[in-house]
Parts: sequence; C-alpha cells; structure tokens
Amino acid sequence: MTKLLTISSPKRLYLQEVVTRDGFQAESHFVATKDKIALINRLSRAGYAKIEVTSFTSPKAIPMLADAEAVMRGIDRFPGVEYTVLIPNLKGAERAVHLGVDEFNLVMSVSEAHNLANLKMGREDSFKALSSVIELAHQQKIPVNISLSTSFGCPMTGITSLADLMHWVDRFAALGVRGFTICDTTGMANPEQVQTVCQAVLNKYPRLQWTLHFHNTRGMGIANALSAVNSGIDRFDSSLGGLGGCPYAPGATGNICTEELVHMFDLMGFDTHMDIDTLLTCSQDLQSLIGRTLPSQLLMAGKVGNLHIAPRQP
Ligand code: COA
Ligand code: ZN
Repeated sequence: MTKLLTISSPKRLYLQEVVTRDGFQAESHFVATKDKIALINRLSRAGYAKIEVTSFTSPKAIPMLADAEAVMRGIDRFPGVEYTVLIPNLKGAERAVHLGVDEFNLVMSVSEAHNLANLKMGREDSFKALSSVIELAHQQKIPVNISLSTSFGCPMTGITSLADLMHWVDRFAALGVRGFTICDTTGMANPEQVQTVCQAVLNKYPRLQWTLHFHNTRGMGIANALSAVNSGIDRFDSSLGGLGGCPYAPGATGNICTEELVHMFDLMGFDTHMDIDTLLTCSQDLQSLIGRTLPSQLLMAGKVGNLHIAPRQP
C-alpha cells in the first residue's frame, strides 16, 4: 500500500447519495412517495454533487421504487446538484427520458451469475440492451454513467478478476460514456484490491468520471474508501445511515454510511462541501421513517467534537 497522502491544500471530494435508490430498494415496507420527495429535497441542501433519485426498473422486480416517475417529477432541483436515475434496460430509459434527469446510470454486473439473478439475462444481452439505451441517451444529450455491479467480487462466483472488469470497462468506454461506478455490491473488496483496481482504471481512462461504490457488508467499506482516495479517486456513492443492499445478491447489506464517510474525510482535511449536521438530522429522521435503527455508528456516538460532561469525582 502507498502511504497516506499529506494534504497541503484541501482536496475536493464529490459525494453522491444513493439512499432513495440503493437504500429503499430492499425495504420491506413501501416508503410513501411524498416522504421520498421530502427527503431528497432536504438532502439537496446538504452539499452533494449528485443524488441517485430512484430506479426505472420493473415494478415487479423492485416494487419499492414503482413510483419513480412521481418522485422524479415531484422533487425540487437545486443548482449544483445532479439528479441521476438507475436504468436497467430500454423500457426504463423510455420511461425516464422526458423527465429532465441529469444522467442515465445504466447497470449491469461483471459476474454472469449476478447479472442473471439481478437482470434476468446474460451479460451479452445486457450489453446489447444498454448499447441501445446509450444511443437514445446520446440523441437526447443525456450523459451516461455505467454502474458495474460485482466489480470486486460476486457472492456466487467469488473474487472478480481485474481482466474481467476491464473487459466491460473497455467495451462501454468505446461507446462514449462519461463515467463508471465501480460497485462492490456485497462488500467483498479489500483495500489492497481497491488500490489495484483504482490505479488500473485511472491510468487507462484518466478523463472519465470514476465513482467508487462500497457496501460495508464485512466492515471494510470505509477502509476501502480511504484506499480509493489514496489511489486518486475523488467521487463516492454512499447511503444515509448506511441503509441499502441489492435484493438479488445473497447476504447483501448496506452501503457505506454517508455521515461516517463525510465525518472522516472532513476530519482529515478534505473538502467535501457537505453539511454534516444536516446529514445527522436527516439520518435521525430516516430511522423514524423506516421504523428501525440504522447501522450508522456516527449517529450512535456523535461527532468527535461532541464532548461529554466528566463524571463527578467521589
Ligand atoms: N420498467 C417497467 N416495467 C418493465 C421494465 C422497466 N424498466 N422492464 C421490464 N418491464 C416489464 C415488462 O413490460 C413486462 O411487463 P408485463 O409482464 O406486464 O408484460 C415485465 O416487466 C417483464 O418484462 P421482461 O422484459 O421479461 O423483464 P424481466 O422480467 O426479464 O425483468 C428487468 C428484467 C431488468 C426489467 C428486471 O429484472 C429489473 O427491473 N431488475 C432490476 C434489478 C435491480 O434494480 N436491482 C437492484 C439494483 S442493482
Ligand atoms: Zn449498491
């Protein structure tokens, strides 16, 4: 591993919230459309570069996000925040194309087994379908990001090789996409592997927008984010409170927690543009909304700067 960077001038990091997509997709109780809209509007004031609003997937596959059109139409648009949506196929793109989204975030898996479980088709069929979506997006001048699920490992087939990942990166890059999200769908990545992957993609495609998307399934999420930053990555997906997980990946759990990630980066002197207090209030309220405790340790412990009254000496 390389040594931690010493930061002389604050390095700008870009935070992207996924709680209303990755977070809500696997919830067992439907979150009301008005509550989704209200949450996105509050989060829009917290300093994010991008918010993944929802997904235009089949409502039979992901019933929690069946209200994608209503949510996308209902939110306020804050200047400086990009509003992206997840799209698995042409039908999803046709639903989203006239809603003024700032980006299409197309999804497929590097692992054939996960692609079959998640999207009900093989990778070649997904690639063909997504190529048509990219054509449509280019006609409509909508930027395209590709989210590659199981980029580091698949719960059914094991560790993903860098060669397999680069194969799909190369094919999509040739179609003129603006960026990629490298997803650790079920928290199988380790910091060493993250460094290798980040350096490989940045070396080969330094001009593309690279996002790292970690899940904290095995407690390595934040360590992986730090490894990515030290390898030159400046853009991260995360989920408020640490909610999230793919419903089609055995053993999936939440994304890395936004407030924990921001808290760490801010303490280290990075420039995240984020308002940590707004995040903590939103995360607290999210617990009430979904009716259970979130995995956010920061919510439990409070910020490092929150001091406590010393116990009285006997
Ligand atoms: N939006 C709305 N409806 C869609 C749709 C979309 N994007 N894609 C397909 N459908 C509908 C079809 O119209 C069809 O409806 P019908 O039964 O009323 O005729 C039905 O879904 C089945 O269509 P088909 O093309 O056979 O799709 P499928 O059942 O093979 O599902 C996906 C394929 C990709 C649409 C589905 O698996 C999916 O949405 N997966 C989402 C996975 C996901 O989001 N995972 C978590 C994030 S990584
Ligand atoms: Zn995810």
